[in-house]
Amino acid sequence: MRVLLVFAHPRRQSFTGQLADAFCDGLRVAGHSVEFADLYLEGFDPILDADQFGLETAMDPTAPRPADVLAEQARLERAEGLVFIYPFWWSDAPALLKGWFDRVWSYGYAYAYEADLSRSTRLKVRKALALCPAGHTDEKLDALGLREAHHRVMVEDRLLGVGIPDARLELLGGLSGNPSDLRQHLLHRARALGEGF
Ligand SMILES: Cc1cc2nc3c(=O)[nH]c(=O)nc-3n(C[C@H](O)[C@H](O)[C@H](O)COP(=O)(O)O)c2cc1C
Repeated sequence: MRVLLVFAHPRRQSFTGQLADAFCDGLRVAGHSVEFADLYLEGFDPILDADQFGLETAMDPTAPRPADVLAEQARLERAEGLVFIYPFWWSDAPALLKGWFDRVWSYGYAYAYEADLSRSTRLKVRKALALCPAGHTDEKLDALGLREAHHRVMVEDRLLGVGIPDARLELLGGLSGNPSDLRQHLLHRARALGEGF
């Protein structure tokens, strides 16, 4: 499978970056190919400005989108699998990745209302995964309902909600305080997730 990995952390050498490397190793062992999209390094602009706001609310699925949005959509066209790897910040993805959805999941590309449904959507990805390390323990994420909340937003709305048939979240808790045993365990897990993707 061709997999697009969207990476959203300001430091490529972070633990989140190591998780991405381990996941990619697993993907390659399983015979998948991967295109690595480092949104911070590439300087992706997450701001949906007044011009694109006009395009999205005009609800014309054929209206031309900005070149950088079209470039992201072209990468998606080449992918059958889609993986997001990012840290859990204020119980969500970093703003850069939120803005990626604001701009790239454009009207007529990722979603459309009834009258336009025959022409939409052009998103062809079949399988998606969100892999997200978090500082809170797993117990705290569950007790506060934050895992469920993020699953609803990230998986049910942003992934299943745009027609990707198979999508899941791996929220990996317990990273506050630099616990090295847990980090090793999670790197193995990320590699296994890549192999099993
Ligand atoms: C700005 C910021 C906000 C954060 N917000 C949360 C949060 O809401 N919940 C949580 O569990 N961890 C939170 N964390 C902790 C990170 O999720 C955790 O340190 C990260 O997953 C570790 O990855 P890294 O070492 O690659 O940065 C936050 C960290 C930062 C820097």
